[in-house]
Amino acid sequence: MDVLQLLKGRRSIRKYLNTPVEDEKILQCLEAARWAPSASNKQPWEFLVVKNKMIREKLAELHPYAKFVAQSPVVFVPLTNPKIHPKYHKSDTALATLQFMITAHALELGTCWAGVIGTSFEKEIKKLLHIPDHLHVLAIIALGYPDQKRESTRKELDTLTHWESYGLK
Ligand SMILES: Cc1cc2nc3c(=O)[nH]c(=O)nc-3n(C[C@H](O)[C@H](O)[C@H](O)COP(=O)(O)O)c2cc1C
Repeated sequence: MDVLQLLKGRRSIRKYLNTPVEDEKILQCLEAARWAPSASNKQPWEFLVVKNKMIREKLAELHPYAKFVAQSPVVFVPLTNPKIHPKYHKSDTALATLQFMITAHALELGTCWAGVIGTSFEKEIKKLLHIPDHLHVLAIIALGYPDQKRESTRKELDTLTHWESYGLK
């Protein structure tokens, strides 16, 4: 598939079928995340995969804007390690997470990012998942077969782009 078509076709999915996600597909998404670029190739991330329904329901209770993780059969939890790279742990792990999401979309799976890092509920999520103190929870990412079709919009390219020097169109 054309890369732009793939990128433009990914949508945040908030309704999921009950169909389980094949482990092979989860592993492909994790493999894509692992191969993301990172500052000095430090790879300041770890990945947690949650399938357990009770834990997903608890995550949905803790996160005010991610009720859909109770329904998605899988939740991907990217963790950042500031000890490995104090400056770039968040951006590097965000890149890994996007690679996970794009690969999921290529495999006909839906995802939705729900931000966690720096929120008032990050601590509770860490406790629930037994995550060590030194790691941060970047986000919780729903993963599953979509049960909705969605549309989105973006700002026009010419309103965002400057050529050679700021303000030159
Ligand atoms: C850092 C970040 C945090 C987000 N947090 C949430 C969230 O808490 N709940 C939610 O439903 N969507 C969340 N989203 C998804 C955005 O709402 C979505 O990406 C945006 O509306 C564009 O839609 P699209 O992904 O379908 O193109 C988040 C996305 C990002 C990148």
